[in-house]
Amino acid sequence: MSVHLEARPGDIAPIVLLPGDPLRAQFIADRFLEGVVCHNRVRNALGFTGTYHGVRVSVQSTGMGMPSCAIYVHELLAAYGVRVLVRIGTCGAIRADLQTRDVILAQAAATDSAMFRPTFGGATFAAAANFDLLHRAHALATAQGKAVRVGTVLTSDTFYPDEAVVSTWWSPWAEHGVLAAEMETAALYTLALRRGARALSILTVSDNLVTGEQTTAEERQTGFGDMATLALSLVTER
Ligand code: HPA
Repeated sequence: MSVHLEARPGDIAPIVLLPGDPLRAQFIADRFLEGVVCHNRVRNALGFTGTYHGVRVSVQSTGMGMPSCAIYVHELLAAYGVRVLVRIGTCGAIRADLQTRDVILAQAAATDSAMFRPTFGGATFAAAANFDLLHRAHALATAQGKAVRVGTVLTSDTFYPDEAVVSTWWSPWAEHGVLAAEMETAALYTLALRRGARALSILTVSDNLVTGEQTTAEERQTGFGDMATLALSLVTER
């Protein structure tokens, strides 16, 4: 047991998929895993462990934002010895050349959060994906005929920025090659790197902040299923 997870040591697999939404964790368990056991119900942050093609895999919801995600990632790493973490989530594209339902493999995550500033004496840290996971995810997606984009994302503390201050707050990020905004990846990568674990974020574009394009609930669900399949193939590849 850890503070926010009631699982016993050994109840959680060394490989964990990380959706933000607890019901998406449940969806993955119901749809894709066999021999499923629910390993966490604390705060309704549902977590499940089962097998996919014979390999033990867990799926643990993280909630939204860096602080919530960091709590679960820290406990998975420190208390349960997890070694591979793959976030599957959504993001808002900040460039017009990305469409909704496009999939992004987050090579690195810039952040506007102050969360890790004390760690690095006020300096910024380049939170990067694990290259092995990134490169294999790209190869798998390509082999499956799925077009994916590889690039930097912005992990933001703010879903609803104060548009009275600046309505195109994303411009400097987009002008430096950042593809999309989301709210968790920089915490995931920083904590995984700190403990020598491997991490990757696979993100589906749910909306485009530049063009205003948005996905329907049905498109989000289908996109989520595709992303979960890619993540599960990646972490169980032999
Ligand atoms: N901002 C941050 N996170 C998001 C967004 C966004 O626009 N869309 C989906 N996740």
